[in-house]
Amino acid sequence: MDKEKTRILVVDDEEIVRDSLAGWLREDGYSVETAADGSSAVDRIKAESWAVLLVDLKMPGIDGLQVLEEARKLQPKASVIIMTAYATVDTAVQAIKMGAYDYLVKPFEPEELSLMMDKLITQQDLMRENILLKKALKQQYGFRDLLSKSPKMQAIFELAKVAGQSHSTILILGESGTGKEVLARAIHAESPRSTGPFVAVSCAALTETLLESELFGHEKGAFTGAILRKKGKFELAHGGTLFLDEIGDISQKLQLDLLRALEERRFYRVGGTDPIHVDARIIAATNRELKKAVEEATFRQDLYYRLNVISINLPPLRERKEDIPFLVDHFVDQLRAEMAKRVEGVSAEAMELLMAYHWPGNVRELRNVLERGAVVAKGPIIQCDDLGLPPSEGEAEPDSSDSLKEMERRHILRVLNEYHWNITRSAQILGIDRVTLYNKIKKYGLRPDDETSPSEE
Ligand SMILES: Nc1ncnc2c1ncn2[C@@H]1O[C@H](COP(=O)(O)OP(=O)(O)OP(=O)(O)O)[C@@H](O)[C@H]1O
Ligand SMILES: [Mg+2]
Repeated sequence: MDKEKTRILVVDDEEIVRDSLAGWLREDGYSVETAADGSSAVDRIKAESWAVLLVDLKMPGIDGLQVLEEARKLQPKASVIIMTAYATVDTAVQAIKMGAYDYLVKPFEPEELSLMMDKLITQQDLMRENILLKKALKQQYGFRDLLSKSPKMQAIFELAKVAGQSHSTILILGESGTGKEVLARAIHAESPRSTGPFVAVSCAALTETLLESELFGHEKGAFTGAILRKKGKFELAHGGTLFLDEIGDISQKLQLDLLRALEERRFYRVGGTDPIHVDARIIAATNRELKKAVEEATFRQDLYYRLNVISINLPPLRERKEDIPFLVDHFVDQLRAEMAKRVEGVSAEAMELLMAYHWPGNVRELRNVLERGAVVAKGPIIQCDDLGLPPSEGEAEPDSSDSLKEMERRHILRVLNEYHWNITRSAQILGIDRVTLYNKIKKYGLRPDDETSPSEE
């Protein structure tokens, strides 16, 4: 970026320091303003956008650390350089932990400041470029808020876009945390009904009677407590989309009511006699295996067919491991923006652990694990221990006495068997290159007829 366009705010309570710093920086071609204390600095950070804040640590009233904290919240993109006297270098180190770019020990030479500024500006330029690249990537690999590089998910996004254009009912299946609700919202947002409401009902959260009145509404006096007439979610979704979440949990009676409403495209409020017609597109979702529930006769087959006009099956995260690094990067970016703390990424070992984990809670769990990691991490890089993950999870759970190597061996073998020893595919799933995979196969002496573990089917 042009130096004249790089806006710097110099904050120091000593006028001489302020003026000489501003002078040096202006000589270097930057656009510089000054503030004489912490509180006027905070006002200016609130009001204007800055590329760099050069802040004295010790000031009466609001000190440098407090200015830093505000700046991280208000303008996370601005870089903060802290100036300090020798005696307070410890605090300066703390400032770095709080997200300062660097610190300068007073007194310093103009060259020292110039060099630091050059480095910082180059880094900011790179970050800006990186952000643009990432944005392009997210557009390429995303569907609204859903991101994925996996071919399976890409196909789902295509299907969802097409399905969004129709009026058909959509059934979204997938384990908890795979993004069912986010997908439902994305479909709505991409549909011709996007200007209409998106109304979500969680069918598992309510008792049968409450859910019935929640869905269909009730007339005044329909039951004790029905003091006023109330519109149901069906009515509220008129012109838009009704999202029936956790549909696998509804009672037999409600299944029948719902079936009727869908078939006849009209329904009655509880206690009502006039049929109500609504125009709402239905998207239903569940993390249950609905087909199995139909086989076991706990879910009506006719309702299943009604809902299952277009069905979308979101694969669990463990079946699209290639998404893990991509999502980690995305969530780290999100966390950096949300937290008043510097988070830059995860260590190589932490990434290995994330790749090997079973993810029963899928993408939601991944985000939670990273959030926890970002909170407890001592530096900007999240380490293995920060994640709080068990060393291993899942069906082939090894004994706690198993070494990390044994877990790796089993995991690799399981993936290989699952993908019929297709090396390219398996390496992709494991997130390692083919040569590394060959080396591991050799190292562990794996063969195609090996079983993952004696107990596995
Ligand atoms: N592909 C993805 N890209 C980005 N974020 C995702 C993705 N999938 C899920 N998420 C995030 O994970 C979280 C969980 O997603 P969502 O609520 O849609 O899951 P769900 O399938 O409805 O889960 P449940 O069955 O538990 O209700 C959300 O915060 C969402 O932002
Ligand atoms: Mg959900």
